[in-house]
Amino acid sequence: MLLRSINNLALKNQRVLLRLDLNVPLKNGQVPKNGQERIRRALPTIKFLLNKKASVIIVAHLGRPASQLGGPEGRVVKKYSLRPVALALQKFLGRKIIFWPDNFEKYFEASKKLKPGQIVLLENIRFYAGEQKGDKKFAQKLSGLADIYVNDAFGNIHRPDASMLAVTYYLPSYAGFLLQDEVKNLSTVLKSRQGLAFVLGGAKISSKINLLKKFNKIADHLLIGGAMANTFLSSQNYEVGRSVIDKDYILTAKKLVSPKMLLPLDVVVASSLMANISQNVPVDKVPKNAYILDLGPKTIKYYLQYLKKAKLIVWNGPLGYFENKLFVKGSKDLLTAILKTKAKTIIGGGETVELLKKLHLEKKVTFVSTGGGAMLEFLEGQKLPALERLKIK
Ligand code: 3PG
Repeated sequence: MLLRSINNLALKNQRVLLRLDLNVPLKNGQVPKNGQERIRRALPTIKFLLNKKASVIIVAHLGRPASQLGGPEGRVVKKYSLRPVALALQKFLGRKIIFWPDNFEKYFEASKKLKPGQIVLLENIRFYAGEQKGDKKFAQKLSGLADIYVNDAFGNIHRPDASMLAVTYYLPSYAGFLLQDEVKNLSTVLKSRQGLAFVLGGAKISSKINLLKKFNKIADHLLIGGAMANTFLSSQNYEVGRSVIDKDYILTAKKLVSPKMLLPLDVVVASSLMANISQNVPVDKVPKNAYILDLGPKTIKYYLQYLKKAKLIVWNGPLGYFENKLFVKGSKDLLTAILKTKAKTIIGGGETVELLKKLHLEKKVTFVSTGGGAMLEFLEGQKLPALERLKIK
């Protein structure tokens, strides 16, 4: 898939509306060190645009302000302000980021006065009702801030939001370097014909059915972890105690189980999610009142036997309940081990990438994707409208 690149654009004195995915974790009002991957990966495009003497207006979102409140979209929720992200970005770039905190309609005149090399970050675009509705009028207004549009928000590429899709109808539109790089690397997975192993964690089967079907076809092995494994175990009539499962998808899970799919042999259980003691048990010995919260050591060894033979390993999603440090071991041990194999590795998903960073292993990975859901939807092979708009026909 070839995308219209920013590479050969004459950008001098142009105002660029740059859509990034700066949806990063915040701790105590700051972006923690191991949560900065998306910011770091946006830098080549930003620097390129600035060096070419464009002025850059960054549009991004943070969190899900609407659903957190359970109310309609379009409300300012202070804790989702992008201001701390502006500060983090400023540190990386070593130059001032102008933050426009108010409704962007206030800044049309200011945008015309921006000088080449100046850089602005708009407040969270999800504070507006039009964004997640993909509203065209809203996108048209937004486009009034700039002369061209560049999308480098791979992590959000599966969302047909106004600043991702509709805006491309109002401005000449191009793909940034990160977006191009993601598409190039993830496309190798879809083209791979032999020796492909997919490690899939996370909570739900319901959102991953197409992906599971697809990789049941194209991968040699599909290794399952996370709460998703509980649903598969339950579909095989194992007791899963009080563990999280996708209740309505047990039958679907049963149908998806295939000889290519590896399920846990043993698991780590505890009496609560925040427990500080745990126990390792075979999958047929899970107590009725227990929660399954991680993969056990036998499972790690078993999975590794298959991963050692793989040529390309793709991994998305944690294998255990990461929120509690006690249940990170399964992911940590498997991650450390696969990075010692000869296989190429493509790893994505916010928490998995955070873990990589914590372990200082990111340099050992062939390609780290900045997408969680985006990576999965891309790998499903479905058409993503925001990406389609940037394709060279
Ligand atoms: C992500 O973090 O996966 C993207 O930024 C999309 O966020 P969303 O799942 O809240 O739409």
